[in-house]
Amino acid sequence: MAYPYQIKNLDEYQQAYQQSVIDPEGFWAHVADHFYWRRKWDKVLEWDFKQPDVKWFLGGKLNITENCLDRHLGSLGSTPAIIWEPNDPEEHHRVLTYRDLYNKVCQFATVLKNNGVQKGDRVCIYMGMIPELAIAVLACARIGAIHSVVFGGFSAQSIADRIQDAQCSLVITCDGAFRGNKDIPLKSVIDDALMACPSVKKVIVCTRTRTPVSMLKGRDVWWEDEIKQVETLGNPPCPAEEMDAEDMLFILYTSGSTGKPKGVVHTCGGYMVYANYTFVNTFQYQPGEVYFCTADIGWITGHSYILYGPLSAGATTLMFEGIPTWPDAGRLWDITDKYRVNILYTAPTAIRSLMGFGLGPVNHKDLSSLRKLGSVGEPINEEAWQWFKTHIGKDKCPIVDTWWQTETGGIMITPIAGITKEKPGYATLPLPGVQPMLVDENGQEVTGNGVNGNLCIKFPWPGMIRTTYGDHERCRKTYFATYENLYFTGDGCLRDEDGYYRITGRVDDVLNVSGHRIGTAEVENAINMHAGVVESAVVGYPHDIKGQGIYAYVITDRLTHDMELTKKDIIQTVSRIIGPIAKPDKIQFVSGLPKTRSGKIMRRILRKIAEGEMDNLGDTTTLLDPAVVEEIKRGRL
Ligand code: PRX
Repeated sequence: MAYPYQIKNLDEYQQAYQQSVIDPEGFWAHVADHFYWRRKWDKVLEWDFKQPDVKWFLGGKLNITENCLDRHLGSLGSTPAIIWEPNDPEEHHRVLTYRDLYNKVCQFATVLKNNGVQKGDRVCIYMGMIPELAIAVLACARIGAIHSVVFGGFSAQSIADRIQDAQCSLVITCDGAFRGNKDIPLKSVIDDALMACPSVKKVIVCTRTRTPVSMLKGRDVWWEDEIKQVETLGNPPCPAEEMDAEDMLFILYTSGSTGKPKGVVHTCGGYMVYANYTFVNTFQYQPGEVYFCTADIGWITGHSYILYGPLSAGATTLMFEGIPTWPDAGRLWDITDKYRVNILYTAPTAIRSLMGFGLGPVNHKDLSSLRKLGSVGEPINEEAWQWFKTHIGKDKCPIVDTWWQTETGGIMITPIAGITKEKPGYATLPLPGVQPMLVDENGQEVTGNGVNGNLCIKFPWPGMIRTTYGDHERCRKTYFATYENLYFTGDGCLRDEDGYYRITGRVDDVLNVSGHRIGTAEVENAINMHAGVVESAVVGYPHDIKGQGIYAYVITDRLTHDMELTKKDIIQTVSRIIGPIAKPDKIQFVSGLPKTRSGKIMRRILRKIAEGEMDNLGDTTTLLDPAVVEEIKRGRL
């Protein structure tokens, strides 16, 4: 497949960038022209950030799976679409060609229809990283059902919240999932979740771990049995549903600074164009290259850069079920060698954790196939960047430090592999089509170079969030109300003397723990649910491997005595309410929290103490009880 919109050198980048600012509609129409549309759009863009109301490719009709599958069958039918590496290196890997994947998606799409799923219905997917997860996602898209994938590490309560919010009618899950030496009982977690989810009428269970499960008569069916039924009928064809460019494609829940996670909504046309365009350009994908993204499909990175981006580009995408440190810390390098991986896209937290094992697991591994490296999810520290460059890329592979968000749908600020001059720790420059702007607290634009500000985007791009499911006002308030006529990212940012962007981290109460986005309010709510806890405050602190760790200050009632046990109980509670990814790393018991006279917790002070910057707490004169700060300082962990 050729990509006429692939930028080939710095001049082309600059020209494309100019063009995208002067004539955004012409720019994106040119990109979108290279997809298969059932009906071409009437108008490229309509937008109003006040509402917000953003529409791309108005009147266009398409199905994203025809772009990811059908259109490749002629030339790439026997090319591997998905290479799947199992958790256990001794188990056989699987290769699904574009033809295989097409057949399986059509089969499972028929299963969904047989189970009553219709266009517009919401389907929750809670599975491990097996090919059937990819098949399930694409099958939903094929029939116009809206998928909501929930990461396998979330608890029953978190899943129930998400299912209720989206009013899902069907759940697709597995008996269990393998991750390293663990076997996670997914179906049993779903059973707990569904006690509070009357909207769910059917559950399809795929076999993976052979963990015993209970199957509820009338509600639960086996994936394999359902497929057999379709086979008995001779695999009837499953034409793709015709979707409007602005019909919903999926919902993906993500954490914010307040309340429960919100369902970020992406739509069919714009998301497809953007995921593909950013994939092809950022990684400079060349036909035939083997591309390996280590993310989980439960996160946006997996949606855009394991599935939709690569598949729409006819790429070979590698899907890995396990974790980088099992059976040993050389696993990613073994996989790279085994499949002659050309492009490796991973997270700083993985790099830092592997660095901790030294060079033993890297030495003597054949990494010569690697051509390009990528990083995503959190700021990458210079040490990790250099290690990646030297020991994995052997100083010959460009690294793309890609900045983006669940809400942006795809990569926004990044070097273009091998084209943009890179600088460790910098996401460098915006892709053509992306117009960043820095603003101060008052919403005034910060111009020039060598400046800091809050990162906003001033013009729409096709992959952007359209709404938060079921609550448009929340979308407006969260992203479009802080600064007039701008999309606010929630990130702080430096633009250096060269005009290069460096993301400095969140400026709101959102934590980034091992690349997972977690709201402090969510963790506090979970801690507060534990009997004996009176109040809590959660902040982030620098953590060598996770990037940020979770530091909780907790006030307990007088009946609580065994503090060590209480700590463990609190951790258990958070695990149950949110999931193991939100477990606090440190819990400090305190008798009070620093509050203003109006009762607001001064997190700034707690953050400083957690970071160990105790001599520089700033203005504490507005505190109700300054003595509490001294106590907290003395008790710091
Ligand atoms: O703070 C930024 C950080 O991750 C946030 C988005 O998280 P999420 O929606 O879960 O998406 C993660 C995968 C795209 C951002 O607001 N972030 C993401 N990439 C980078 C980053 N921070 C610094 N550098 C990056 N490359």
